[in-house]
Amino acid sequence: MKLLIILFIQTAVAQSRWYQDQTCDRALLQEATSRYIAAQSTGQPQWLSTLLSDNTTVIENNAESSIPASLVLNQSLAIAHVRHIYDTVACASFSELVSLAPGPGYQIGTQLRLDAATRKITKIDSIVTTTGDLYFNTTHALHYLLREDWGLIAPENRDSRATIQAAADAYYAYFSNGSTVVPWGAPCDRLEGGAYMGQGLANDTCDAGLPPFSVEMRDRRYVIDESVGSVNVLSEFGILGPDSHEFRVEKGEIRWIHAMTFCRGTPNCNAPDFPGLSEEVGW
Ligand SMILES: *[C@@H]1O[C@H](CO)[C@@H](O)[C@H](O)[C@H]1NC(C)=O
Ligand SMILES: *[C@@H]1O[C@H](CO)[C@@H](O)[C@H](O)[C@H]1NC(C)=O
Ligand SMILES: *[C@@H]1O[C@H](CO)[C@@H](O)[C@H](O)[C@H]1NC(C)=O
Ligand SMILES: *[C@@H]1O[C@H](CO)[C@@H](O)[C@H](O)[C@H]1NC(C)=O
Ligand SMILES: *[C@@H]1O[C@H](CO)[C@@H](O)[C@H](O)[C@H]1NC(C)=O
Repeated sequence: MKLLIILFIQTAVAQSRWYQDQTCDRALLQEATSRYIAAQSTGQPQWLSTLLSDNTTVIENNAESSIPASLVLNQSLAIAHVRHIYDTVACASFSELVSLAPGPGYQIGTQLRLDAATRKITKIDSIVTTTGDLYFNTTHALHYLLREDWGLIAPENRDSRATIQAAADAYYAYFSNGSTVVPWGAPCDRLEGGAYMGQGLANDTCDAGLPPFSVEMRDRRYVIDESVGSVNVLSEFGILGPDSHEFRVEKGEIRWIHAMTFCRGTPNCNAPDFPGLSEEVGW
């Protein structure tokens, strides 16, 4: 009997420690992303209302906005692709969206942040890209996004949050310091808007064509999901503008990178043309 009580207490303590680490549950985050997609696909923000508080802030392209003033939340977007990740420690989600219609479409990256105590969304933080933004082409984006497997990683092969975040931070540090040791995967492929920087070959690398030049990614907001080895970082990307980068990390190494960058009206952020962006791609 004594043993049972001790076991019971030990289990309760272990569980409460688990709850302390897991500041909010996956089910709540999943409800938030389901409602977000319901709202965004119908253009009826009221589908989010049960999860909103008086304090919910809306950030679009690193500027304060609101639901009525949103670039997209009051429009019904036909969503062709969506993939979510869930951060149960930070109580946040990230969703990658591609919409081809109404034309010219959008590529959107959205972080939702929730308060674990009130179970309400405190912040909707999006990068919203369309024509004129960095290498925008939703057909190309969809083609490449759908070829990749960002699925669950077997528990014994998962990296820690620290390892996953460090891979992203090393990549960012590399831009201004070419001596930075980045855990490049082999192969490693990067998609910027609709521009696929690799050849789809086993020897593709993600360092090709990167500066070094002095560029700082400021005001970084992270969402990390160890179950899929992924970290999303929203930031102000130095010379370019408001930006979303998501990294898929496998066994400590960067395998894929997805970027979307809002150009604040400067066509293609003054970046060099990307040959092939207007060519046909397969289904
Ligand atoms: C709004 O934010 C304030 C300060 O962060 C907090 O005290 C209050 O509980 C929040 N209200 C709601 C409805 O979430
Ligand atoms: C959505 O909001 C924007 C900005 O306030 C406005 O220009 C647009 O007409 C609205 N769209 C719809 C479908 O209500
Ligand atoms: C660049 O990175 C290398 C390797 O991490 C480090 O030793 C060096 O101090 C860095 N240089 C600067 C200027 O930060
Ligand atoms: C990558 O592999 C392809 C095909 O095997 C080869 O033609 C190409 O030269 C290789 N590129 C580099 C940079 O090694
Ligand atoms: C986007 O790619 C499609 C082919 O997949 C092409 O027809 C279209 O012209 C491209 N659009 C732009 C703006 O490059």
